[in-house]
Amino acid sequence: MGKYIINGKKRLEGEITLQGAKNAALPIMAASVLCGEEVVLHNVPDITDVSIMKKILSSIGCFVKTEGNTLTIDPSNISDSVVSESLVSKMRSSIILLGSVLARTKKAKFSYPGGCDIGLRPIDMHLKGLKDLGAVITEEHGYIIADGKDLHSGNIHLNYPSVGATENLILASVFSKGVTAISNAAKEPEIVDLQYFLNKMGARIYGAGTNTVYIEGIKELHGCEYTIMSDRIVSPTYMCAVNMCGGDVFMRGASLDNIKSPYYKLIESGLDVTAFADGIRVRSDGKVSNLDSIISMPYPGFPTDLQPIFTAMLCLAEGTSIINETVFENRYRFTSQLKRMGADIKIEGRIALIRGVKSLSATRVYSEDLRGGAALTLAALCADGQSVVEDVEYIMRGYEDFHTNLEKIGSDIRYVPF
Ligand code: EPZ
Repeated sequence: MGKYIINGKKRLEGEITLQGAKNAALPIMAASVLCGEEVVLHNVPDITDVSIMKKILSSIGCFVKTEGNTLTIDPSNISDSVVSESLVSKMRSSIILLGSVLARTKKAKFSYPGGCDIGLRPIDMHLKGLKDLGAVITEEHGYIIADGKDLHSGNIHLNYPSVGATENLILASVFSKGVTAISNAAKEPEIVDLQYFLNKMGARIYGAGTNTVYIEGIKELHGCEYTIMSDRIVSPTYMCAVNMCGGDVFMRGASLDNIKSPYYKLIESGLDVTAFADGIRVRSDGKVSNLDSIISMPYPGFPTDLQPIFTAMLCLAEGTSIINETVFENRYRFTSQLKRMGADIKIEGRIALIRGVKSLSATRVYSEDLRGGAALTLAALCADGQSVVEDVEYIMRGYEDFHTNLEKIGSDIRYVPF
């Protein structure tokens, strides 16, 4: 796999443009399967997870065309409802296709998604919800086999506000006669984006962003054109980089909408943030203040996806910070690599105790997951000397043009393919 070679301690200055949201694009691509006509999506990030989802859509008979950040999907001739182990194993979140394939074709056969480096990632809530909506589901030889002939509306209560389960159950209910209510639903902005997209195709969904989503069944959907929201995890990632390295960067297309929790933590840690109509300007002298506590929670709490990024930033804070990762059970693996750079981090279960150090020392580190890899890259940007970040393909799953953007604003970073 490829690597970044980084000479640290460079101040960041200039302008970058914020990408579209990975975690909105993926469910919206899955939702397109419900429609019998062509949809055109704009602001789709050019990242590996989107490429994998395109392959999966093509494998079931969708026609997919990409022009820059515009993706055209024609699902009119869906010919299959089987998603193979080789494709699901590449991206476990492809399971959000289950609901839409089931609602469109009334059957589905998906390889059971495995866990990943941040946790077991079970899908019990997805499957229980689909069964409560009338799907007949069996699991054999590592496959989920679903029969959706008798899919119906109903009242579903999620034990936990799972993003993927909320999305899957919305998609499965679009054509079910009557009104489906999903209570204790996830409130993430990406689910609101999904609702906007589905309603633009003629669906009747309301309540996304609150803890109960209602889906009134309709007969069919029509094609549409839609622009994906900007990525609320990528923008604070660059903001943390500026806070760590020092600098003055304008992020075109960024907004404070949807990032209130990380925003308040960033200004508490010393970053100067100014919002404009067309983007956000961030400035820093490179001195990071510690944060008494960060607790990752479902939206609108602090997003778990930013926990690794903030952990890396707080390694350089003046003082001690405490992080409580309540969402995923194994999301501190990357900290062993930070310790090799001289970070002072103690992990006790879900708690990370971070004592800031004056500087990190450059070395070779290994990415093991998307956000952990981005965190290691930020640490290398402000470490003394030349670092090598290995296995950067993990990072490319969710960050478009990551190293080219960082280079554009002054980092000394070079990508070396395997
Ligand atoms: C989505 O994953 C995101 N992925 C994740 O982003 C994000 O971290 C997560 O939501 C939380 O915000 C996409 O949107 C593609 P969950 P998802 O279901 O849907 C447990 C990134 O870096 N759970 O809300 O898989 C689960 O194990 C990725 O961009 C069950 O127990 O997250 C976890 O502990 C990482 N049973 C918690 O709920 C279930 O049936 C939250 O998971 C489903 C989930």
